[in-house]
Amino acid sequence: MLALAPAAAAEGVLPCRAAGLAISSYPAKNDRLDESRSAGMSTGQHVGIAGTGHYVPKRVVPNSYFEDFVETSDAWIQQRTGIKERRFAAEGENTSDMCIEAGRMALERAGIGPDELDLIVVGTVSPDQFLPACAPLVQAALGASKASAFDVNAACTGFITALSVGDSLIRSGRGKNVLVIGAETLSRFIDLQDRGSCILFGDGAGAAVLKAQGPGEPREILRISLGSDGTGYEFIQMEGGGSRKPTSGDTVEAREHAIRVKGRDVYRFAVTTMARTVGEMLEGHDADELGLLVPHQVNARIIDAAAEKLGISAEKIMVNIDRYGNTSAASVPIALSEAESQGRLEEGKLIVMCAFGAGLNWGGALVRW
Ligand SMILES: CC(C)(COP(=O)(O)OP(=O)(O)OC[C@H]1O[C@@H](n2cnc3c(N)ncnc32)[C@H](O)[C@@H]1OP(=O)(O)O)[C@@H](O)C(=O)NCCC(=O)NCCS
Repeated sequence: MLALAPAAAAEGVLPCRAAGLAISSYPAKNDRLDESRSAGMSTGQHVGIAGTGHYVPKRVVPNSYFEDFVETSDAWIQQRTGIKERRFAAEGENTSDMCIEAGRMALERAGIGPDELDLIVVGTVSPDQFLPACAPLVQAALGASKASAFDVNAACTGFITALSVGDSLIRSGRGKNVLVIGAETLSRFIDLQDRGSCILFGDGAGAAVLKAQGPGEPREILRISLGSDGTGYEFIQMEGGGSRKPTSGDTVEAREHAIRVKGRDVYRFAVTTMARTVGEMLEGHDADELGLLVPHQVNARIIDAAAEKLGISAEKIMVNIDRYGNTSAASVPIALSEAESQGRLEEGKLIVMCAFGAGLNWGGALVRW
């Protein structure tokens, strides 16, 4: 059994300072974590990850770029976040363009044609436009003529949420093949006057093709868990442009169309949530069954702190934040796809994905590769 350090096991209470509350924010073990249900005993239908794909823009933006805008340094950013550089989309390159590239790669690896897809779900908070969704653009470009297509807005948990939607559709028998994507162009939503947030984010897309399969086949999704705690709504937000604060001269002047983060609050939430979510995913399994942990690339220090609580060694953790920064919904699927490219997904081993962020939302997934 993977023994959770006592500190991780004890921390079920998240101090939500924005709301002035201390609440018990984690669901107890429930049927979402019941592997026998997740693995298909309720409907008989099992689901696997048939292929992964990713795309990052060509433009590399080093930390020194920000030194022209705010009081910061390459050394500070590297030491506090682990980020060395990130990618920014080119002018005219949008979230849907990156989704299409990542989606094509995942379909090719899966050996599944676009016309075989039943659904496309894109997790993003930076779609090409806010109406309509990004996913229909992807559906049209890929020629996925039979697929319905929509977005989910779950911020950094967007990919795991999309994965959950796709997995549920297949388990229910309402479809056989689903393309799930996490993609962001956050470079268009950063405030280059806010050093606490502008240095964090990057652009990119990652994708996975889910397919109906028989019991015991490789790459089977065994568990998915999602959670939310809206009392931390203000920790990460973009206030302007919604129904509460429609776009106006005032919202633009107040720079309310950019992402703001309460970094220290998110930091504490992230360490606790990552440790707990990964612990839940591995519950009942031996530590040596773990092949690779693929966490949300939020901050190298957060990943290290959570891994230490869990007792997971560095070689079992996929980290690429040094090259891409935090790409929000895209971070887990980019890391998963890169891990596949690097041969780090070993058949028969457990792969754990976890993500957390604005909402507050979080999610985990367990796959037997
Ligand atoms: C943002 C983050 C990197 C800041 O690192 P930190 O070690 O927590 O730093 P702190 O917030 O305690 O700030 C320490 C000091 O560095 C300063 N600082 C903040 N950003 C800086 C930057 N880019 N360059 C230099 N100094 C900076 C702060 O102003 C503060 O100065 P002060 O002590 O004079 O007030 C870290 O908290 C983090 O990664 N949080 C989560 C990120 C997040 O929200 N991601 C999005 C959602 S998943």
